[in-house]
Amino acid sequence: MISKNNLVENICCVGAGYVGGPTMAVIADKCPEIKVSVVDINEERIKAWNDDNLDNLPIYEPGLVEVVKRSRNRNLFFTSDVDNCIKNADMVFISVNTPIKSAGLGALQASDLKWVEVCARRIGAISKGHTIVVEKSTLPVRTAEIIKEILEATTKSAKKNGEEKTFSVLSNPEFLAEGTAVNDLFNPDRVLIGGEDEVAIEKLKSIYLKWVPNKKILCTSLWSSELSKLTANAFLAQRISSINSVSAICEATGANIQEVAKAVGLDSRIGNKFLNAGPGFGGSCFKKDILNLVYLCRYFDLDEVADYWEQIVHINNWQQNRIYEKIVDKLFRNLSGKKIAILGFAFKANTNDTRESPAIQIASNLLEEGSILQIHDPKVSWDQIFNSLSTYYETNKLDKSNINNWTLENSVESAVNNADAVLILTEWDIYRDINWEKISNSMREPSWVFDTRLITDPRKVRDAGLNLWRLGEMESCKDGTFGLS
Ligand code: UDX
Ligand code: ADP
Repeated sequence: MISKNNLVENICCVGAGYVGGPTMAVIADKCPEIKVSVVDINEERIKAWNDDNLDNLPIYEPGLVEVVKRSRNRNLFFTSDVDNCIKNADMVFISVNTPIKSAGLGALQASDLKWVEVCARRIGAISKGHTIVVEKSTLPVRTAEIIKEILEATTKSAKKNGEEKTFSVLSNPEFLAEGTAVNDLFNPDRVLIGGEDEVAIEKLKSIYLKWVPNKKILCTSLWSSELSKLTANAFLAQRISSINSVSAICEATGANIQEVAKAVGLDSRIGNKFLNAGPGFGGSCFKKDILNLVYLCRYFDLDEVADYWEQIVHINNWQQNRIYEKIVDKLFRNLSGKKIAILGFAFKANTNDTRESPAIQIASNLLEEGSILQIHDPKVSWDQIFNSLSTYYETNKLDKSNINNWTLENSVESAVNNADAVLILTEWDIYRDINWEKISNSMREPSWVFDTRLITDPRKVRDAGLNLWRLGEMESCKDGTFGLS
């Protein structure tokens, strides 16, 4: 509904997930004059956002509790009353889930736009007067066109009933990374707004101008905005697959991946960020966005371009697979009944998100080999691990006979108890300070430590009598320090 003074007064965000929740909390914090309602059909999620105990918020993000505390029930509201909030809003953000399609045309490549379409239809049916609709979820290029078409259809039918109902569609992709979401929102590298309607763009811009300098706000066409988001994520993922591919060369040649990354990153044209080799990228965006790009390329008969980007996902799967094969190899090619402690199930540290976590594929492979997994993660729940594994087994049509051979342990000590191997998959800080001397006493010999995040002190692990494999290092390099400073 258009506001009297032509300023945005009432925002509704559809989707209270990893993007919608923190983004709206920060907008509400910075714009106390705007009422911000975050709606979700998932009542459990809304209940958790409203929980008196802020430790129970549905997502874990450093700094989020403080932001929510300042504005919740002041001008930030979480509710499942979707229709009412859409009706009263002059700006609606679409922040719903857009996973990869599991079946049908474009299966395992294209994004499933089911939720976006439902959401657009609801906005079309419920809203009044003029509404600015902002696509916030990461979406394939030209999704805004679909949203526009749906909304325009409702404009026409409203007109027939003598009702004035109009929309402006903007693209405003979110670049926050989980684990640093609050800081990324407070200090973004840039804010991107795509669209044609100057007035709508200015209104959205005026919100960000409350805390983001004008020079950091970039306005483009809708399609450039959508493609920029996919491209930014594809470039980031490409860096990770590049450094991970080099980690394998390091293991074969005796070079050290951290030294190589440091030397390469000192070139100011390359830069030192996003060069940490690891078990492969996870998270809800990278794989999905690259596959969307690949799908788009194939649609436009750009097969060479599609092959180029697809290779990044291929290397990512290969990296996860070779870590699992390395473990099988070291444990005498027999994992049957062997206990393996998995340290970290989240796709990266400082988040409770497990979507596309490398831990899922690696754990499933280890379970298939007959091992028993003792999993520890400071923030991931048993249900999340169960759901992640079940989905992975179903998608890949795996034999489920060993699927339940795992436990979630509440301490590192209980996870390693009687284990043949420790596998570090997430770079949580608590895994940096493990007392390996103590740990080694409770493991079965010969005991192995597989460090895929390079967070162990090699000397301490080896001095404790443990065998150590570190990603991107040749095994004969026993001291493992390589003069790194
Ligand atoms: C990413 C983008 O960074 C963000 O801009 C976009 O909005 C959403 O997708 P996110 O997936 O939350 O964010 O986390 P990110 O920090 O990018 O990490 C993604 C994956 O790459 C993680 O699995 C992480 O462990 C891995 N990674 C990252 C590495 O293996 N090495 C690195 O150097 C950096
Ligand atoms: P993201 O990481 O993009 O934020 P999430 O899966 O964490 O994705 O959150 C998306 C949220 O959107 C979910 O909580 C889901 O219940 C919600 N959602 C999906 N469709 C609708 C809809 N039509 N109306 C309201 N909420 C929706």
